[in-house]
Amino acid sequence: MYLLGYYLVVLLTVVVTVRAGRNVRAKDLKVTLPSGDKMSMIGFGTGGINGVKTMTNILDDALSAGYRLIDAAAFYENEEDIGIALKELLPKHHLTRNDIFITSKLAPKKDLFGEHAYEALKQAIQRFGTDYIDLYLIHFPGYFPLPEPNMNFSALRDETWKQLVKGQKEGLVRNIGVSNYNIRQLKELLRNDHGVKPAINQVEWHPDYHQDELLKFCKKQGVALQAYFSLGGVNNKTVLLEKPEVKQIAIKLRKSPSQVLLKWALQQNVLVVPGSRTRKHMDQNLDLNFKIPEADMKILNNLKQAGRISMFPDIII
Ligand SMILES: NC(=O)c1ccc[n+]([C@@H]2O[C@H](COP(=O)([O-])OP(=O)(O)OC[C@H]3O[C@@H](n4cnc5c(N)ncnc54)[C@H](OP(=O)(O)O)[C@@H]3O)[C@@H](O)[C@H]2O)c1
Ligand SMILES: *[C@@H]1O[C@H](CO)[C@@H](O)[C@H](O)[C@H]1NC(C)=O
Ligand SMILES: *[C@@H]1O[C@H](CO)[C@@H](O)[C@H](O)[C@H]1NC(C)=O
Repeated sequence: MYLLGYYLVVLLTVVVTVRAGRNVRAKDLKVTLPSGDKMSMIGFGTGGINGVKTMTNILDDALSAGYRLIDAAAFYENEEDIGIALKELLPKHHLTRNDIFITSKLAPKKDLFGEHAYEALKQAIQRFGTDYIDLYLIHFPGYFPLPEPNMNFSALRDETWKQLVKGQKEGLVRNIGVSNYNIRQLKELLRNDHGVKPAINQVEWHPDYHQDELLKFCKKQGVALQAYFSLGGVNNKTVLLEKPEVKQIAIKLRKSPSQVLLKWALQQNVLVVPGSRTRKHMDQNLDLNFKIPEADMKILNNLKQAGRISMFPDIII
């Protein structure tokens, strides 16, 4: 009798836990990074958003909607705007610096790469006006303009990483990672990681362009894959949002095409950072508590991939 009661309690606990797990709202979904920090699976992309007033208005909406991860970059020239906006917005939203997660990226420029990377990180922190950055990425495995088509950036990447590891040891940055790295570049980094393995690799990722081998490799190595251009980017969004297969699945599931595209990534444990200037879209993009049936996942996974949207060169040595 006793034992039966015990088993019932265990069973109930399991059921309740599983149900609670299923009901975690998408905005609260987190992954644990190698440092132990937890990072939201859905972040807010700020590429193309500039100016203090515009940034403040948009981030005000994003924080109200529930976003806590802000994806920025020196390349977007908006680190300072974000810093100023947050000074006003954090108190307004009853938040502190610790409640939000700031990602930024080392711009692909010659005078920031290699031995200059540590200084570049410090300058980024100054622009934000904060004490630290949560996640700092090497934006690109090389810099522009390419000095020569066959420039070998291998040694420079290694030096860059070494500088970022120093920044992490000193607490300037909590986590470090990379962006736009392919398997070869990741392998090279993992072979000689100076004691810190990359927390994430942020790459272009959507039904028209997904590198499944890269995802498999990242999962095996414990490097989280984070998607950009999940909705096709600002200039090319109709390509994905109006794709017949995406629209059909959206109608069937009573979701928007954007929700289908974001959920398609999350359901494969790929993190997302959609950008939006529209409050309704911001809400929609966090409202992802549904499941795409396996058959529909297959349809999206097996579409003929039109290829990448970003203009980054394909091959960087
Ligand atoms: N690491 C890299 O090299 C790299 C490169 C590119 C981008 N990124 C990062 O990735 C982030 C996302 O990229 P992105 O903003 O260029 O492109 P995106 O997220 O693929 O698409 C943004 C576009 O989709 C629209 N949109 C958003 N939600 C929608 C919804 N629910 N329904 C309909 N339309 C919707 C937005 O319009 P509205 O404003 O009207 O909502 C906007 O024009 C960037 O902000 C940046 O942080 C990183
Ligand atoms: C690039 O340089 C590294 C050493 O810094 C070397 O190991 C690698 O083979 C080189 N790659 C190519 C394609 O030349
Ligand atoms: C994306 O948009 C740019 C700018 O409008 C255009 O040049 C490019 O061809 C588009 N790419 C795709 C894949 O549609």
